[in-house]
Amino acid sequence: MKIKSSEFIISAVGPKQYPEDGLPEIALAGRSNVGKSSLINRMLLRRNLARTSAQPGKTQQLNYYRINEELYFVDVPGYGYAKVSKTEREAWGRMIELYLREREPLRLVIQLVDLRHPPTALDISMYEWLSHYRIPICIVGTKADKLSRNQVPKHGKIVRETLGMPKGQPLVLFSSETGMGRDELWSIIAQAADI
Ligand code: GTP
Ligand code: MG
Repeated sequence: MKIKSSEFIISAVGPKQYPEDGLPEIALAGRSNVGKSSLINRMLLRRNLARTSAQPGKTQQLNYYRINEELYFVDVPGYGYAKVSKTEREAWGRMIELYLREREPLRLVIQLVDLRHPPTALDISMYEWLSHYRIPICIVGTKADKLSRNQVPKHGKIVRETLGMPKGQPLVLFSSETGMGRDELWSIIAQAADI
């Protein structure tokens, strides 16, 4: 995938602000700090287009990025961040659920998990929820650079087993630091978005 253009479009707080041009959307989901914004930057070869932070919970809206006038990446607020109020958390939850269940141009949810550790209870319930609603999923195990070369496939296997992923479902072993998995993920995205 050749990146000709990539731009931030909007931090949407609700459906009225979602783009109306009908371009396919690829959502990035996963718990706070797992590396969603970093993955977007690596995929787009941009250092700081999506804001990353060592402090979790920074992304609190649906952030839209348009690529090559062809598709959108949608950075979804991280789940599992404890330091926001219950009311706030519930409001995000509703917005995200509605987006994931009813957004017509949504083609694929890329769910990120930290490859260093087995998926958490929250990761599992997110995965089960997406599966239940038959939303197309690609799992990305990220921060692979923090593991040794021979640990990477072992941890991949643990992710597959813990989530109970069916055989044909893709698991991409990824690193935003090194670019590992980037080409594979682009081909999955291009196929899902039909571009
Ligand atoms: P929220 O927006 O809070 O939900 O977090 P996020 O999922 O967008 O995470 P973000 O991309 O901001 O990354 C969180 C931290 O993990 C940052 O310090 C990143 O530099 C680091 N990080 C992300 N991906 C990788 C990776 O592949 N390898 C390494 N070594 N660090 C990473
Ligand atoms: Mg983020």
